[in-house]
Amino acid sequence: MIALCGIIGYIGNQKASEILVKGLKHLEYRGYDSVGVAIANEQGIDIRKDKGMIDDVSINLGFVSMNGHIGLGHNRWATHGAPCKENAHPHFDCTKKIVLVHNGVIENYLRLKEELAAKGHRFVSDTDSEVIAHLMEEQSKTDKPFYAFIKSLKKLKGSYALAVMFADDKEHIYIARKGSPLIIGVGKGEMFCASDIPAMLNYTKTFIPLEDGDVATISKNGYKISDIEGKAVERKSITVDWDLEMAEKGGYPHFMLKEINDQRHFINETIATDVSAAKELVDKCDKIDIVACGTSYHAGLLLSYLLMRKGRNARAYIASDYQFIANPDENTLVIAITQSGETADVLQALKFAKEKKTKIVGITNIVASSITRIADALVYLNAGLEIGVAATKTFMAQLAVAYMLVYPKEKLENVRSIIAGMLEKENEIKEIAAKLKDAHDAFFIGRGISVPIAYEGSLKFKEISYIHSEAYPGGELKHGTLSLIVKGIPLIAIAPDDETAPKLMGNIKETKARGAIVISITDNPEIKKESDYVIELPKIDKDLYPFAEIVPLQLLAYHVSVLRGNNPDKPRNLAKSVTVE
Ligand code: F6R
Repeated sequence: MIALCGIIGYIGNQKASEILVKGLKHLEYRGYDSVGVAIANEQGIDIRKDKGMIDDVSINLGFVSMNGHIGLGHNRWATHGAPCKENAHPHFDCTKKIVLVHNGVIENYLRLKEELAAKGHRFVSDTDSEVIAHLMEEQSKTDKPFYAFIKSLKKLKGSYALAVMFADDKEHIYIARKGSPLIIGVGKGEMFCASDIPAMLNYTKTFIPLEDGDVATISKNGYKISDIEGKAVERKSITVDWDLEMAEKGGYPHFMLKEINDQRHFINETIATDVSAAKELVDKCDKIDIVACGTSYHAGLLLSYLLMRKGRNARAYIASDYQFIANPDENTLVIAITQSGETADVLQALKFAKEKKTKIVGITNIVASSITRIADALVYLNAGLEIGVAATKTFMAQLAVAYMLVYPKEKLENVRSIIAGMLEKENEIKEIAAKLKDAHDAFFIGRGISVPIAYEGSLKFKEISYIHSEAYPGGELKHGTLSLIVKGIPLIAIAPDDETAPKLMGNIKETKARGAIVISITDNPEIKKESDYVIELPKIDKDLYPFAEIVPLQLLAYHVSVLRGNNPDKPRNLAKSVTVE
């Protein structure tokens, strides 16, 4: 089950609704099937919410006409209960004096719901979250808000980032984190809380990421953080130097296109990142297990190939399967690659690894994300915020880090111009996209270190175009898949002029003979002749081909998606950060 959602809270002197609406826009990538805000003022608490995206719902329901200086907002990604007005957050208790927003999954909610229903509580939604409001209502009969809050938390099993307001206590917002991210934003005479930093960046650059088990009370002029028993704990604040422009589209029609183009700008910052502690561990350990999911797994697979070619004992695992097949011990180094730093499958694999006493290297883009608290050594991707749900620039940054763990940094000195050169081919790629847009299936092939790039090209293509696509090492086609290659099927061949070219040429011929339309990404003269469409690769260091190959594949996926009328930034059924297994 997916448990994503975006939370924001504000308390201060400004109009809360305006701040919440702007913040929710930045949190949309975490979920966008329904949205709502709650504002407390002299009249009590007003909730407005509905199915749909922030821009539409906010206008239809007049979010910014709500007056008050304290409020909560929420973008929902349906888990328990369909996307609809009733299931959208915020949720009230029976008295409408307690309101909350929640991200996570309450595993024991059914039992709690039955108990509360037996005591006369009435539920209006199918969500697990609403149960918490009623629990607090029950607890508030005997306790003041803070104690009602922590006593209720103790009854919950599962994960949460929570923010709660009481109509009778308009000076405080109560928040807690367990398994879902939550960060305090520290302003002057105002305080924020949100699922991540961009939602608050308009107002402050100082943040305090809560840790699992933390409970906090925020007020206009301060915050108090404690454990679940109410015992004070100290948490460090961090200051970030991102500006909001980095999180905006910068003139491109979609974040994804901006982020693909961004690759030429930030790559040198990635190359400047400090890999020394991680590299020391890589050099020292006998066995290297790499764990990651989706796009990050493809970067991990490439890293495993680079290490294997150097004679190292390395293997990449899909993180969600790691605990079922791997056998790590104290001599194993586990390298976890996760741009968000919050992917539950990766965190679960690391929990398993930690129990086996492995060393852990974390590679992530997000400062203060969950993985940063687990890893023995960290590498930051320095890719800037990535808003498009489909990972592009963070994949490029992961590739760069993978290479830096195996080769000296100097090897990457031309990567920036390689990427820039490939970006210039956008118009020809757009023309090829027009030929592919009505396809029902597509196949991607490569060999050697181009195989992870074929996998990634195929994933990008299918997830935003919604065209079925598969990727294989070229040699595998004849072992089954060739039966699917019929007239008109697009075959995208990642065919650099390296030692794989002669064999890949054979695979291309096999598919051509069956009527496939061959699109080659190549600098090999023979393969060019055999192909229907060619995207030309530059003549470069053969080890670096993946940096050039991935750019046209990202652009191809993007343009096919747009030509089919999809929104590539928000592919259906997907969200940016997948915080449950
Ligand atoms: C696809 C994509 C996903 C992520 C995967 C892991 O475009 O973005 O496949 O790569 O969900 O996410 P992270 O890297 O945050 O662990």
